Amino acid sequence: MGDKIIDPQSEEMKFEPAEDFVINANINDPGIYKKAEEDPEGFWGELAGEISWFKEWDTVLEWEPPHVKWFNGGKLNASYNCLDANIEKNGDKTAIIWEGEMGEVRKYTYRELLAETSRFANVLKSMGVKKGDIVTIYLPMIPEVVIAMLACARIGAPHSVVFAAFSGGALCNRISDAKSNLVITCDGYYRRGKIVSQKQKVDEGLNSCGQLKNVIVVQHAKNEVTMSENRDLWWHELMEEAEPECEAAIMDSEDMLFLMYTSGTTGKPKGIVHTTGGYMVGTHISTKWIFDLKDDDIYWCTADCGWITGHSYLVYGPLSNGTTIVMYEGAPDYPEKDRFWEIVEKHKVTILYTAPTAIRTFMKWGTEWPKKRDLSTLRLLGSVGEPINPGAWLWYHENIGQGKCPIVDTWWQTETGMIMISPLPGITTTKPGSATRPFPGIKAAVLDEKGNKVSPGQDGFLAICNPWPSMVRTIHGNEQRFIDTYWSKWDNKTYFAGDGAKMDYDGYFWISGRVDDIIQVAAHRIGTAEVESILVAHPAVAEAGVVGKLDEIKGEVIWCYVILKTGFEENEELKKELISHVAKNIGPFARPQMLIFSDDLPKTRSGKIMRRVLKAIANNVDTGDVTTLQDPDVVATLKEKTMKAQN
Ligand code: WTA
Repeated sequence: MGDKIIDPQSEEMKFEPAEDFVINANINDPGIYKKAEEDPEGFWGELAGEISWFKEWDTVLEWEPPHVKWFNGGKLNASYNCLDANIEKNGDKTAIIWEGEMGEVRKYTYRELLAETSRFANVLKSMGVKKGDIVTIYLPMIPEVVIAMLACARIGAPHSVVFAAFSGGALCNRISDAKSNLVITCDGYYRRGKIVSQKQKVDEGLNSCGQLKNVIVVQHAKNEVTMSENRDLWWHELMEEAEPECEAAIMDSEDMLFLMYTSGTTGKPKGIVHTTGGYMVGTHISTKWIFDLKDDDIYWCTADCGWITGHSYLVYGPLSNGTTIVMYEGAPDYPEKDRFWEIVEKHKVTILYTAPTAIRTFMKWGTEWPKKRDLSTLRLLGSVGEPINPGAWLWYHENIGQGKCPIVDTWWQTETGMIMISPLPGITTTKPGSATRPFPGIKAAVLDEKGNKVSPGQDGFLAICNPWPSMVRTIHGNEQRFIDTYWSKWDNKTYFAGDGAKMDYDGYFWISGRVDDIIQVAAHRIGTAEVESILVAHPAVAEAGVVGKLDEIKGEVIWCYVILKTGFEENEELKKELISHVAKNIGPFARPQMLIFSDDLPKTRSGKIMRRVLKAIANNVDTGDVTTLQDPDVVATLKEKTMKAQN
């Protein structure tokens, strides 16, 4: 039997860093916070010296809210920082330990990774990819995803990595928005022992992507694929002919390093733009300090490269620190529920960074699985992606961290690029469930609707009050949306994170989750509007309201309320079809858990669906004031339908 998830009252529960950890920690002087606060520019300027520049910057910070330039005038290359800069000291050190789901292991030293990356950079060049061209990468967790990212960075072509589990249609939307004319993918990959045919999804998606010229296909699972003549090329054939040397392009600090699409509050995902200098400084330093990286660490971040965590804390942060990283292709329960712990034991992982959803799943599976394996090499644990409930925190601490590993609960977002609120393991006393304090140099606050600070213990909105190096620069092709989404809530210079939070009397932050229409399903970020727009695209659907319903394991799951068009009958078959329609059009990770038919939805007098009310109904909590609804009676009807659907 799995352990029951019980949340103890944890605000008073504290874990002080162990003395021996403190002594050896990269950062153990609490004075660092004050130093950074007194002179944030001086602080970041000094730290920027820890990465490699071809030319030093002219100014550390130019801040014309909400526009920012960090290290302007500086010249550098992100791929150079992750590879070349490590060669002298760490050329023969293992950079990547990759394990496939079927058990095969591939390793790359830094020297080998540099050669492979350079080779692929030459391939890109030979195909006409130039500085500034956006290349779409649609690869699963195989080493080629890292090689492709670093090769793009090497020649100054921003990458846009699309999570491999997205559908072909979602891929196509992102390709079109980025105006990419090259996509890098593979034949297939393993998931729970079965092959997912990635290339087939590409073929389906590309039917509607006009400008795309080429598809490079990594041969991985060796499943059968159709290669379209003149358009599709094999990675291994191109690599055979390419030279293993390619000089890194000299990039401006503010040149775009990558685009990362993420869900927002409309149906259209936003292309978050990150630039080079500030991003590299932010991720390099935060990885080194928060994960306390040492030369002999074996660091495993379980995130996928298709999300920001994979970018910042699997690729750029750890590799620029010369760390040995572990990458795993597959599912945590394949072939057995101890796969993660088998990997920790086999590769002697010392640092593990994963999501609360995974931790709660492991809790459910029970302690017998981690107990089967030797986890004694672990010395630090991390959590990211959604609030971690104290019960899961304590379970993680006890059963994975053997009671000795500090836990860093790290709050951040695609837009922030780097971790913003987190313990520093050699300094911070942790409290289960709290991400603790802002990283040095970051000023966070909990504000009310008007922008006033709320008192300790009160709920409010999480805000960032000063600029930071790795912050989002704009939304690709939509400057206005950038301003509206993040800056216009208060004074145009305070960043609105979209999360609810409170601060306790020790100044610790407790993040409660999104206050906008984004849901975190198993740490995957999904916009309710995105799901709604897919639903209404179905011929049977007239209107749809989608909300997040709290879930013990996944944090939140997707619930849909659907009004059918006249002539369509509410039945089980159609319900199943609509659920599959969402999963097929976005990706299996966005499969709604529940779909309820209704004749009406809670709407304002102007006809806007009030998701707040719908969410309260789905979660069986007080709906609050409903007097502004067009028809307040709809609430009772929906409550009844919801009850019925659950039984
Ligand atoms: C949530 C993932 C509580 C939050 C890095 C945020 C968290 C959203 C935490 C961003 C945490 C992330 N505690 N909530 N430690 N980390 N979140 O862009 O709601 O995929 O706004 O970035 O995840 O999700 P994104």
